[in-house]
Amino acid sequence: MPQAVVIATGNAGKVSEFCAILKGSAFSFLVSKDVGFIEEIEETAQTFKGNAEIKAKAVFEYVSQKYKDYWVVADDSGLEVEALGGRPGVFSARYAGENATGVERYTKLLQEMERQTNRNARFVCSLCLIRPGRRPEFFEGECRGSILPQARGSGGFGYDPVFLPEGYSNGFGEMSEEEKNALSHRGRAIRSMLERLNAET
Ligand code: IMP
Repeated sequence: MPQAVVIATGNAGKVSEFCAILKGSAFSFLVSKDVGFIEEIEETAQTFKGNAEIKAKAVFEYVSQKYKDYWVVADDSGLEVEALGGRPGVFSARYAGENATGVERYTKLLQEMERQTNRNARFVCSLCLIRPGRRPEFFEGECRGSILPQARGSGGFGYDPVFLPEGYSNGFGEMSEEEKNALSHRGRAIRSMLERLNAET
């Protein structure tokens, strides 16, 4: 039986990217709601790593009561903009209010960036993996780039339409999921986790 791993998120964009990257791996993947976890988890830490750990621990605590040998992995990610002193950062999901849409978030960002000449930014992803009887393990990924003057494309999710990765002429919003995963913060963090896990077998 392949090892079951629960992806501790309800974000459809993240789930789709995780599934595409992990397809063909030696694990069997589920998401929080597949194991009955539908609660909102409060992200109270000041760092991506801290929030990834909070989410992974909350779901692991729930899952381990029913499924003793399941693993849990959580993703906390966001966009850091240099001219804004690293904002929205860990507040990326809440930048335009709790229930705002992706379009509302990036529209607010474009407005805030209207007169900024320094448009450097980076996406960051921190993963926390919890396996029974082990300490939490962490994996990081980043993708450097810049904030576009206007939204381009409709692919991906969240801030993708306003992010241009360094060295590319297409923004994340104009890329296929496969192209984005090859260079994204999340793709890098997930591949680094897989490398560690594959090295153990
Ligand atoms: P959280 O990790 O659930 O706190 O949410 C992170 C937020 O950052 C998401 O809701 C998106 O708005 C944004 N974000 C994280 N990763 C990406 C990405 O790959 N593309 C676009 N936006 C992202």
